[in-house]
Amino acid sequence: MRWEPLLSHRPMTVVTGFPGILGTDVSPNQERTAVTANRADDSLEQVASEVKVCPLCELCRSRTHAVPGEGNPQARVMLVGEGPGWHEDQQGKPFVGASGKFLSELLTNAGLSRDEVFITNVVKCRPPGNRDPLPDEIQACSGYLERQINLIEPDVIVTLGRFSMSKFFPGEKISKIHGLPKEIGRRLVVPMYHPAAALHQGALKATIQEDFDTLPKLLADRERARETSREREDRHSQSSLF
Ligand code: URA
Ligand code: SF4
Repeated sequence: MRWEPLLSHRPMTVVTGFPGILGTDVSPNQERTAVTANRADDSLEQVASEVKVCPLCELCRSRTHAVPGEGNPQARVMLVGEGPGWHEDQQGKPFVGASGKFLSELLTNAGLSRDEVFITNVVKCRPPGNRDPLPDEIQACSGYLERQINLIEPDVIVTLGRFSMSKFFPGEKISKIHGLPKEIGRRLVVPMYHPAAALHQGALKATIQEDFDTLPKLLADRERARETSREREDRHSQSSLF
């Protein structure tokens, strides 16, 4: 039997041509499940308030608190994990347990603070017993992540772990592509190991540290590219004055 939403939700607005994660139009399947607020007045607060009462998948039944994500609304780096664990479910905040502590260390070593990035997850509610999120749950939740990405417009998205990676690099293997940035749509997406995996497998610790250490250079390159295109635009608008 198909699972039915528990609560009545505000009417779902289906927007044709909703720009998907890749900065391109979404597939018909994504379009159906995207919980899209009115695009012009959407906000991170609006996304969070919908997530907190979201009935769109079965994970709503077992959550204590949904975890919409948190951080700087103007972040240049967005980190996307898998899903809340026990601590996150208790507090309603992302990455506050042991892997969160390690993530904070990784960020600090890369010259970034938690306050300047935005941290969220592929699914916003805790899978019971920390099981893997199911494809249906990831799909049901994808509209929220897309809206967050479109609102924040980060330069760099770091995917943490294979579920987050699969959103951007379907069919790829983390052991093959970790640390390799790829231009996808308007942003650079860098797949990385999940901090929890690195905590449990010592051999991955140095790898994830090295991958995080590439972030400052990626950001500097992005900034330079932005300046160059700004200068080009300025030159163009000045020359068109005469
Ligand atoms: N693991 C995740 O993927 N996300 C969290 O928020 C915490 C642990
Ligand atoms: Fe809604 Fe996502 Fe939570 Fe499922 S995981 S109930 S789709 S917020």
